[in-house]
Amino acid sequence: MSNSIWRKKPLSAFEADVKNNQLKRVLGRWELTSLGIGAVIGGGIFVLTGIAANQFAGPALALSFVIAGIGCTFAALCYAEFASILPVEGSAYAYSYGTVGEFFAWFIGWNLILEYMMGATTVAVSWSGYLEKFLHLFNVHLPVWLVNDPVTAASKGYEGGFSCNLPAFLIAWVVTSVLVKGIKEASGANNIIVAIKTTAVIFVIVVGAFYVDPTNWTPFIPERVIDDAGQGHYGLQGVVTAASIIFFAYIGFDAVSTSAGEAKNPTKDVPFAIIASLVICTILYILVSLVLTGMVKFDQLDLKAPVAQAFADNGITWAVYIITIAALAGLTSVMLVMMYSQTRIFLGMAKDGLLPKSFFAAIHPTFKTPWKSTILVGFVVSCVAAFTPIDKVSELTSSGTLLAFAMICGAVWLLRVREPNIERPYKAPALPVIATLGILTNLYLMYNLRSDTIIAFFVWGALGVVIYFLYSRKTSNLNQE
Ligand code: ALA
Repeated sequence: MSNSIWRKKPLSAFEADVKNNQLKRVLGRWELTSLGIGAVIGGGIFVLTGIAANQFAGPALALSFVIAGIGCTFAALCYAEFASILPVEGSAYAYSYGTVGEFFAWFIGWNLILEYMMGATTVAVSWSGYLEKFLHLFNVHLPVWLVNDPVTAASKGYEGGFSCNLPAFLIAWVVTSVLVKGIKEASGANNIIVAIKTTAVIFVIVVGAFYVDPTNWTPFIPERVIDDAGQGHYGLQGVVTAASIIFFAYIGFDAVSTSAGEAKNPTKDVPFAIIASLVICTILYILVSLVLTGMVKFDQLDLKAPVAQAFADNGITWAVYIITIAALAGLTSVMLVMMYSQTRIFLGMAKDGLLPKSFFAAIHPTFKTPWKSTILVGFVVSCVAAFTPIDKVSELTSSGTLLAFAMICGAVWLLRVREPNIERPYKAPALPVIATLGILTNLYLMYNLRSDTIIAFFVWGALGVVIYFLYSRKTSNLNQE
């Protein structure tokens, strides 16, 4: 087997994986779509809308959702084509390993760590914000140092030394313990949670619409200002920055592809579900952002629990109970899916020899889950969530995902050129155009993230390259053969 960084996992190996599939094929196209929506609706819409509108886009937040939605649509179409060619679990990592080459696949897998692990971290912090809001309903106020990372606590005037976001830390360990015991027990509850949170979002749109004051929408794009720290806000540039931030809200539709092994008709239904869940969420998001910025003046929007607070500000206290409970449950389910997907991607990479098998592919004798890597994921998520501000983590998540999406668009195009004749049950339309637009939009959104995020992202990428060349390239199964 060649030692090239372009070496590919043979398609026969994937076919064997599909043949050896022990899972029951029970999921139809709408069940898969519901899974996608379940992974998508979370911290982005329930929390980041506050930061994005308040600090960057104003009422034009809806426009930011359109821009980010377009970038995701290009990526989703390319994802769908990949999923139809290789109906296997493992998401973008597995697709690229079979089609483009090992280094490319490794680098995508490395970025997916940002998507899933840092994504779960962002959601853990969002969860904590909603718990605080929920406790306020009962007049329980936790001390600043117990519900905030040190930076946020200091920005609130806390000078007492140690502080951490304890609820975020704890929820990460609750989810970890569920995952160590096995996802099966959780999947029934997950379906109910998905129904609850989708209903809650529709509830926000329908009930909130009655409280919209159209004067809150003017000016739709507030004038651009530069603050003392040199940070720009509002104006068209602010709308694009907000799009990069709330891009996070769309992350997760690709998680549908991790369920290929349980899909009744994976080559057709997985592509359908990827696109359908994205379209449905885009429509819901645009409507929620219009309602939210119509209910409350953008600069008054809460940064921690903006949706619930908008209802509280309008005196609709009973709705706050419904929204906070639905958000808490919904955010938990997003964490579950993200942390689950992370461990399965690690598992795939370890089985291929790119990560240490004895750790990442170790299966618990009783629970039959990859328990060591699950605990590692729980450890990282809980610690980062306890000590880091949410905007930093969410932007890091977005940077990794945006690059992974751009790479997927490039990879699908490359595959069309290299292997024009392989069977493609779903073909992305107008391919060179869609792929080019996908690459450009996703890279442009990435470019609009704050400079410290980009620096952190490059450090992460460089670390991935070093690990690949020093370790994974040698230990890869393809190298051993
Ligand atoms: N899209 C997911 C969320 O907003 C990650 O929580």
